[in-house]
Amino acid sequence: MRVVDLRSDTVTLPTEEMLDAIKTTELGDDVYREDPTVNRLEELAAKKMGKEAALLTTSGTQANLVSVMSQTERGDEVILEAHAHMYSHEVGAFSAIGGLVPRLIAGCMGIFAPQDIEAVLRRPNIHFPPTKLVCIENTHNYAGGTVWSPSQIRTLCEFAKTHRLNVHMDGARIFNAAVAQNIDVHELTRYVDTLMFCLSKGLSAPVGSLVVGSRELVDRARRYRKMLGGGMRQAGIIAGPGIIAIEKMADRLKDDHQNAKLLAGGLSKIEGISLDPDQVQTNIVIYDISGLGITSGEWTTRLLDFDVKAGAQEAGRVRMVTHRGIEKEDIEYTLEVAEKVAKQVREKGSSKATD
Ligand SMILES: Cc1ncc(COP(=O)(O)O)c(C=O)c1O
Repeated sequence: MRVVDLRSDTVTLPTEEMLDAIKTTELGDDVYREDPTVNRLEELAAKKMGKEAALLTTSGTQANLVSVMSQTERGDEVILEAHAHMYSHEVGAFSAIGGLVPRLIAGCMGIFAPQDIEAVLRRPNIHFPPTKLVCIENTHNYAGGTVWSPSQIRTLCEFAKTHRLNVHMDGARIFNAAVAQNIDVHELTRYVDTLMFCLSKGLSAPVGSLVVGSRELVDRARRYRKMLGGGMRQAGIIAGPGIIAIEKMADRLKDDHQNAKLLAGGLSKIEGISLDPDQVQTNIVIYDISGLGITSGEWTTRLLDFDVKAGAQEAGRVRMVTHRGIEKEDIEYTLEVAEKVAKQVREKGSSKATD
């Protein structure tokens, strides 16, 4: 029986073409900037995103960290959305390593506006940490893959500029955001100072993320990457699949979005599960199973008995993410399983009560 793994789009395996690229790609020492494939990937990424330069990093976490460090000094303050991945899921790196102070804004489905920044802006005062940077996340993971539109980004960045604040976008899934809005990714990147995006999520490459921005900022990020031990040698074996990811894998993300819609629509009809399928914009489906009277951990354990994997979060939240390894039939099977498990729970109660 095949396992339906909906925990994350990071579980996607490389395509045959990517595996071939690993074997055949031209290599060199990237710390000397002599790996032709890495150089090609970085040029491609910069061009694709409409920026001067790009830097390959080992992960999204590292890319976010070096982006932020390249625009701040220790003791500076950074404005982030309250559920930003950078704040809650990156081991506190920007504080622990970057020495930065977070200032959180509660967004609406992960999105916030200039007024929200205005409300937390500090006037110059010797007691305050200087605010230097605003971070946005597109798509927003915790909010359920929600997208920032070009006009929302533009308004925010223009406001930030008037207050001498830079803007960094955590665009781990930026191509999902572009595909969902049927626009060129350029539209989403043109106003931000730096952007990081991942090759190893829905785009299916095995490893790697990129930072893009001005040459000056990317040069600084390159120094920080080296400091963090992220200087790689024959990194062309990562960059080869990365080029294929950027050139060939973005268009198919619409299939993942369609599957996510199908999944959300089906789940919303199950008694005890709550979610609004209209809020699902990309490939992440978050729903609440509190109505079944069990924990999200119990729910995902029960799904696992039927070879369906999902992510248990706090307070009854469950996350399912569609990706290249998930077909329409997998969604149909998952819905059958969810229906069956929910029925069992409604009839017998939680395992704690019955076992
Ligand atoms: C929005 C967002 N940013 C950053 C990251 C970090 O990426 P990585 O797991 O490659 O460190 C993730 C990972 O899931 C993410 O969802």
